[in-house]
Amino acid sequence: MALTVDDIVGRCRDALGETTPVLATRDALEQLVASPSALAEALGPVERGGITPLHRSADLTVLHVAWTPGMNLYPHDHRMWAVIAMYGGQEDNAFYRRGGPGLEPSGGRELRTREVLALGDDVIHSVANTRREFAVALHVYGGDFFNGERSEWDPETFEERPRDLERTRQLFEEANDRWLRS
Ligand SMILES: [Fe+2]
Repeated sequence: MALTVDDIVGRCRDALGETTPVLATRDALEQLVASPSALAEALGPVERGGITPLHRSADLTVLHVAWTPGMNLYPHDHRMWAVIAMYGGQEDNAFYRRGGPGLEPSGGRELRTREVLALGDDVIHSVANTRREFAVALHVYGGDFFNGERSEWDPETFEERPRDLERTRQLFEEANDRWLRS
């Protein structure tokens, strides 16, 4: 039987009941991205970059994320655990820690198709898609991604500011327009 969005959310929901939800979620997502084509079929074709909620509740958010080619999302935190699972393309994660005037770079990780990355509550990262194809992923969070206070940082000055999802949405729009014109 074909994989559905309900199956994907159900597997994440089941993982929340395990002893260590973040690790159980990572395991569940590793199984899912082992078949990228099944995920692509369940989630549908991607023509524009953006964030699409598949599930949202107080203890779990499941997002479908498509990073537009050339896009670079400024540093931000989540204040809850997160697991990223790629089923197409590549996203380049840069990590930071608080320090200096705002942030100090602290390594990075290139995440390719079929790879999964678990992030702890206090991680600060930025994400870039440097390739000429959409980077498509499931992003799963141990809480309500759309609610609560979070921070983002100006990519040039590293000045901290409250998270602004509208700014993120505009960044996607600009990247989509650039990509569609290119
Ligand atoms: Fe993030």
